[in-house]
Amino acid sequence: MPSYVRAGSLPHKRHIQFRRPDGGLYAEELFSTKGFESVYSLLYHLNPPTATLEVREWNRAKVTLLPNDPLRNRHFKVAQVATGGDAIDSRRALIGNSDILVSIAQADRAMEYWYRNTGGDELLFIHHGAGVIETPFGELAYRQHDYIIIPTGTTYRLLPSVSTRMLVHESAGMVRIPKKYRNEYGQLEEHAPYYERDFRVPLLKAPVDARGEYEVRVSNAGRHATYIVQNHPCDVIGWDGYCYPYAFNLEEFAPITGKLHQPPPAHATFEAPGAAFCAFVPRLFDYHPLAIPVPYNHSSVDCDEVLYYVSGNFMSRRGVEEGSITLHAAGAPHGPQPGAVEASLGKTSTDEIAVMVDTFKPLQLAQSALDVEDANYYRSWIEAPAKV
Ligand SMILES: [Fe+2]
Repeated sequence: MPSYVRAGSLPHKRHIQFRRPDGGLYAEELFSTKGFESVYSLLYHLNPPTATLEVREWNRAKVTLLPNDPLRNRHFKVAQVATGGDAIDSRRALIGNSDILVSIAQADRAMEYWYRNTGGDELLFIHHGAGVIETPFGELAYRQHDYIIIPTGTTYRLLPSVSTRMLVHESAGMVRIPKKYRNEYGQLEEHAPYYERDFRVPLLKAPVDARGEYEVRVSNAGRHATYIVQNHPCDVIGWDGYCYPYAFNLEEFAPITGKLHQPPPAHATFEAPGAAFCAFVPRLFDYHPLAIPVPYNHSSVDCDEVLYYVSGNFMSRRGVEEGSITLHAAGAPHGPQPGAVEASLGKTSTDEIAVMVDTFKPLQLAQSALDVEDANYYRSWIEAPAKV
């Protein structure tokens, strides 16, 4: 919700009669969050969005998470996780806690139904692929390296034109632009690494005036259902407000660099309850004559760090590959691996792309991640490999 948006036809006042050419009333819908007290939009449907013909069970696979025990740094070769199907049924849970669930998905076919997560916002990161997300707010075209924010309760369906590999973050709350980037009126400040113009919003198409039996699969915090609704979900003639899906491409991210190493918060993109998101994109390195380009050793004692490696040369990490995830556990020291500091000296730029989520509650592990674990990762900082 970067700012106010309006699209299509709207009545001049909210909550008044707004009539179709045939004399009937459009159906106004308030799409609000946190009850009526946070961001919202008003949508005008050709037909009521409430006409539910049937509610059935959706036996969605239950996500089981195991403790990170023994507590240690881990590396998962997620590129090896077998997945395929549509954008929802291809999700394979990897890591999560009660605030956020991180999954990998490979959408190689269109969704034949609609999906609505009413348990919190979803943040999709498109690693590879392209396509369109259809929503009542319009169509949001996506491409490689997009972040896509889908507010809780948004009905959508993802239609890939190219098979789409994505990292899926299901938050239990709202995914927001960090407060530190906003002024007192909510506008992005000059020091922010992006600007309102960088965010793409759905393109509202002609409303679909159709009746039938449309399947909408609904999830909310582990509860699921399949709704059969009478009216096509994309029958909106106009909408306005602050709550809508939007996209942001990493190409538009203007990284903050400095004389000395900038810590991850300098690369923050979004935040959610219990989670902070960052992006590392191609950038110039620090310009102090004695600067060390790679990060220093550190132990983030009160958060778990998850880094997803997208592309480029991951200079400070031995053994990781495109599509890898490292989990640096709270309190477990990590940093450049042996030789990485010396090898980095004199380098002036990096072409790496990686996205990060840090969580403040302990992360747990799904079997899909454990199946592709590089179990020796926690030993990768040893100066000389121990003889066995
Ligand atoms: Fe770290």
